[in-house]
Amino acid sequence: MAKKHADKNTETINAQPRLHQRAREIQAYGTVSHMLPLELEEPVRLEMTEQLNQLLADTMTLRDLYKKSHWQVAGPTFYQLHLLYDKHYDEQVELVDSIAERIQLLGGISIAIAADVAETTQIERAPRGREEVPVQLSRLLDAHQIIIRQTRTLARRASELGEDGTNDLLVSEVLRTNELQVWFVSEHLVNVPLVKAQEPSAAAGAA
Ligand SMILES: [Fe+2]
Repeated sequence: MAKKHADKNTETINAQPRLHQRAREIQAYGTVSHMLPLELEEPVRLEMTEQLNQLLADTMTLRDLYKKSHWQVAGPTFYQLHLLYDKHYDEQVELVDSIAERIQLLGGISIAIAADVAETTQIERAPRGREEVPVQLSRLLDAHQIIIRQTRTLARRASELGEDGTNDLLVSEVLRTNELQVWFVSEHLVNVPLVKAQEPSAAAGAA
């Protein structure tokens, strides 16, 4: 017994880090585990976490689309768009964290890894190569549209279920941020002259 006790002590004080460890998951994806005293029934938390994971995957995709655009933008509006894209990226990063932590708070599991996001998102995959500014802007607006549509639907559903915290997150943070970003991006697609105003007669002729 004495020797066994000594071995145990040696193991405890060994300075070698335990590397390459694996074990079974402590919670399966798609389940809601702990029951915090939130006064929210399991079916409600299951439905909300599933829907929030869809929104999370789409928000992560839009976030990455902004960084891709930030890096790859070209042309006379390079500087302003380079900065704007990164500002929107930062705001989407905040939304990603808020949505993911809401899922965890509800007892669910947030998707996190790029491969899982790619399998889940509804947003069209952009090519690896570089695209023109109008195409970048259009892709971003298409992604925002998908997110705004599902955010409104999910916010109404959350309200119906008495899930006021999720409703507030969706309306106050996700929807408002996406709507504002849509405005800033859309104004870059208005075809107005840069240097020379259009003659009234030419404008009338064009119409
Ligand atoms: Fe940068």
